[in-house]
Amino acid sequence: MIRIVKKPTDTDSDNSTGMVADELSKRGVPFSYLDLNGTDPFSGEICGDLIWVCGIKQDGLQYEIINALNLNNRVANSPESIAVCASKVQTTARLLKNGISTPDTIFTGSLNDVEKFLEKHEKAVFKPVYGYDGNGIYPFSDISGLRDSPPFYVQEYIENDRDYRVFVIDGEAVGAIKRVSSSFAHNIHQGGCGSALQVIPEEMACIASQAAKAIETDYCGVDLLPKGDSYTVLEVNGTPNWHCMKAPIPSLLSEFLIDAGKSL
Ligand SMILES: Nc1ncnc2c1ncn2[C@@H]1O[C@H](COP(=O)(O)OP(=O)(O)O)[C@@H](O)[C@H]1O
Ligand SMILES: [Mg+2]
Repeated sequence: MIRIVKKPTDTDSDNSTGMVADELSKRGVPFSYLDLNGTDPFSGEICGDLIWVCGIKQDGLQYEIINALNLNNRVANSPESIAVCASKVQTTARLLKNGISTPDTIFTGSLNDVEKFLEKHEKAVFKPVYGYDGNGIYPFSDISGLRDSPPFYVQEYIENDRDYRVFVIDGEAVGAIKRVSSSFAHNIHQGGCGSALQVIPEEMACIASQAAKAIETDYCGVDLLPKGDSYTVLEVNGTPNWHCMKAPIPSLLSEFLIDAGKSL
C-alpha cells in the first residue's frame, strides 16, 4: 500500500501532492493519505508500506513520527535524507566529503572567523541553517552588514545572473529550470521567473546526480549556480517543488513510487 503525507503548503492552484496522486489514480494504483497529526507512531498498525512524504512541517512532531514509522516501512525520501537536506550545514558536510563542488563555506559561532572569511572573500552570503525559499539570505561585504546572531553559516558570494534547479529521481536528472530574478535570491518565492531547459547539459546533470547520491535521496531538487565552465551546488531539497519544469515530474514520480512499493 502507498501512503501519502500531503505537502502542508499545497493550495488548490499549486497542489504537488494532488498532481502525483492523480497519476497514481490514472494507473489504477491504490493509495491513501496519512495524516501525521493523527498517527500513533507506537501502535505498529502502519507496517510494510511505502510512505511518500511530499512535504513535512518543521514542527517537532511530524519528523519524529516519520522517523519512527521508518523502522517498519519504506519512507521516501528517507527521514535521514530529509533532515540532511533541511540543514545547510549537514548538506555542505556531505557535499565536501564526496568531493562535489560547492561554494567555500564556514559554519561558526565566532564573529572573528567571519571577519577572517571576509578577508579571503570580499563578498559573502549569510544563510539561516534551516532556511528555505530564499528566506533570510543576504549578501554582505563588511562585518557590519551581518544582521544575524550566531551560528553563522556564511558562504562565498558567487557572481551570477541566474541559478538552476535540477530535479533528480533515482540518481537521474530528469528536468531542469533556469531561474532569474531582480532580487539577490532567484527562488520562485522571491519573485524569480523559472523557465524550463529544453536539454539538461551533461555537466549539470552529472553534478546534480552526484549531489543527490551524496545526500542519499530517492528524488530531490538540486540548486546550482554556474561557475566557470561548470556548476557549483548550493543545496539539495528533499521535499522539492517542480514549478516551471517541462518534464512530466508527477508522472515520473508516480512511477518511481510504484516501483519502490513493488520491491517491498
Ligand atoms: N553563495 C551564493 N552566491 C550567490 N548567490 C547565492 C549564493 N547562495 C545562494 N544564492 C542565491 O540565493 C538563493 C537561495 O539559496 P539556497 O542556498 O538555495 O537557499 P534556500 O534554501 O533558501 O533556497 C539561490 O538560489 C541563489 O539565487
Ligand atoms: Mg534553494
